[in-house]
Amino acid sequence: MRLPLLLNLVACCFFSSTVFPQTKTIPLETKRHALVLRVSDQKDVHICYLGKRLHQIGEYETIQDVYKQATDYTGLLNSAYTPSGSRNLAEPAISVTHADGNQSLDLRYVSHETQQLADGISLLEITLKDPVYPFEVRLFYKAYFDDDVVEQWSQIKHQERGTVTLHKFASANLHLKANAYWLRQYYGDWAREMQPEEERLTHGIKVLDSKLGTRAHLFQPPVFMVSLDRPATEREGEVLLGSLQWSGNFRTDLELDPQNNLRIISGVNNYASDYSIEKGEVFTTPIFMYTFSAQGKGLASRNLHNWARNHKLLDGNGQRLTLLNNWEATYFDFNEEKLKDLLKDTKKLGVDLFLLDDGWFANKYPRNGDTAGLGDWEENRSKLPNGISTLVKEASANGVKFGIWIEPEMVNPKSELYETHPDWVIKQPNRDEYYFRNQLVLDLSNPQVQDFVFGVVDDLFTKNPDLAYIKWDCNAVIYNAYSAHLNNQSHLYIEYVRGLYKVLERVRSKYPTVPMMLCSGGGGRVDYAALQYFTEYWPSDNTDPMERIFIQWENSYFYPAIASANHVTDWGKQPIKFRTDVAMMGKLGFDIVVDHLNDNDLKFCQNAVQTYNGIKEIIWHGDQYRLTHPRENSVASMLFVDKAKDNGVMFAYLVNNRYDEGSHLPIRLEGLDPERRYRISEINLYPGTSSPIAHEQVYSGDFLMKIGFNPQVRKGRESVILQMEAE
Ligand code: DGJ
Repeated sequence: MRLPLLLNLVACCFFSSTVFPQTKTIPLETKRHALVLRVSDQKDVHICYLGKRLHQIGEYETIQDVYKQATDYTGLLNSAYTPSGSRNLAEPAISVTHADGNQSLDLRYVSHETQQLADGISLLEITLKDPVYPFEVRLFYKAYFDDDVVEQWSQIKHQERGTVTLHKFASANLHLKANAYWLRQYYGDWAREMQPEEERLTHGIKVLDSKLGTRAHLFQPPVFMVSLDRPATEREGEVLLGSLQWSGNFRTDLELDPQNNLRIISGVNNYASDYSIEKGEVFTTPIFMYTFSAQGKGLASRNLHNWARNHKLLDGNGQRLTLLNNWEATYFDFNEEKLKDLLKDTKKLGVDLFLLDDGWFANKYPRNGDTAGLGDWEENRSKLPNGISTLVKEASANGVKFGIWIEPEMVNPKSELYETHPDWVIKQPNRDEYYFRNQLVLDLSNPQVQDFVFGVVDDLFTKNPDLAYIKWDCNAVIYNAYSAHLNNQSHLYIEYVRGLYKVLERVRSKYPTVPMMLCSGGGGRVDYAALQYFTEYWPSDNTDPMERIFIQWENSYFYPAIASANHVTDWGKQPIKFRTDVAMMGKLGFDIVVDHLNDNDLKFCQNAVQTYNGIKEIIWHGDQYRLTHPRENSVASMLFVDKAKDNGVMFAYLVNNRYDEGSHLPIRLEGLDPERRYRISEINLYPGTSSPIAHEQVYSGDFLMKIGFNPQVRKGRESVILQMEAE
């Protein structure tokens, strides 16, 4: 009951204030962070502070005095939800056309209330109304106290006679104050996901957005960071990490105004998406989430990981299955016999599950390549004459589990589904079809299509109750956006995503725990709205371990390692040990031809799976520390420490060897108990090799964090895993 009590105190204090008789301050506090809203005497709601939490809550009162010179409180620029067409001339969070054709909107404070939803979770709701039109917006701020995470969204509603059109409808509108701001953003493409760029923001508006529809995050993921005053490092600096929880088109505006305020407006992309609402209808935006840290990116990301595991990611605190996938081992070329051999290989490797990838379905137009069959989800009779159920049983007989790949949102024009239901496909009625990977997207705004997509999953589980895993792929973007089902075409991008969530809700209410991988031709769709339904995501088809160090590194700022599905494949030139070590920094899988491994490589992999089983708890549920960054050092190094600080696992890789560089200097560890002593040993050694690291050495946590430890990464020892065990 921490927050309401504080809020009441502050409310009393400000109601009785003689300095600002009409104003009200609404602080939203988490453990180390505060967002302070203020209601002016004009009833405008501003954000007057976003930053480190103050010791004395009453002191939020004076923030207005301190910023008075620099801030215009008439509502010209600062608003907690900027309306357009009236007094506020900044980039709007919301813009509308009223039922009578008028385009102005003003939003004034009506009331606010805070509820305690659970211990450490509060929900602040602020109601705003237009003084002229019967138009209302509710702003929601859900605060996760311990993790310093805030989720924001809004609800829009009117009582006008007729239809109101929403042209922009952001989830959140933040307002930051600093001397300068550095934006870390990402771009990408297939096999090049999560490429970072960091730059100082200049005045004007920087827009991060996507218009791709389904595989929406392919070119630009929704995650970003903003550092205040100077670029934050892992351990120092004020930084905000944010993202929209939405698996479709998004838009984040970062507007730096002439007074050096930074406004961050984030929501569904309004591109081609005017949304009409009728009298009384409630439009709820998706959630924008952020965390703020005054101790650098490291703390911010650990807070996000804790929040994700505790509150968002499906089964975030649970277990995961190691696996053998056949995609790169066979592509479309397999049959029952081959798969039975792979089931034996799964057992031989020692992993938990065999994952059958693309190519197992369709008969009229068999799925022997990516040009046909998508949509026809019955087993291909010539490849699998005895169906999936035989394989599921065979897997059990081998003591392993069985999982399967699907891409249920998509269709090849060469398919029976397309022939039967051309109206279920997103395409312009009067234009040539245009394909992405030879396929089109099904119209999930249509409830019949939702039933079909749910049916794909439901059928598989009904026929194979022991099915233990789903890889859900999504390989195409939406071209020629048009729905034969919708009357209002500008609703399509939004209704598609809502339709997808309806299907996923149904899947999860019937099959609440079965693990599912969120895949989109690599990492083309990763966000926290989708991850409520998935236990893991596929960061990239690029499994070259050198590239994966970088891709996994950037993802690790936003998503916990337990959610990162990392497979050992034949990509890259590195030896199997390097490839496996990199894949172990998350959820381990293999996609190799086990038969092709020489004796030592096979032995190494088998031992590695056992080693991984011994350390996976620390990686999945511990705290993650990025020690030395691969873009700034010759050695990249990542550490995981369990919550009790009993055990740690440190990964180190040679990422640059221009001058025979290696780790000549010790690397400082973090997160250990300074008072305890840790025994360090090298693990996951390749058969026949020995470690130069003395096994019996013991160091205090204090020593390891102040002086550090040298993993002796160098040519010939390009990849090293160290284990720390407290005595
Ligand atoms: C794209 C995925 O990213 C791959 O892992 C694989 O499942 C293929 N699709 C199958 O078509």
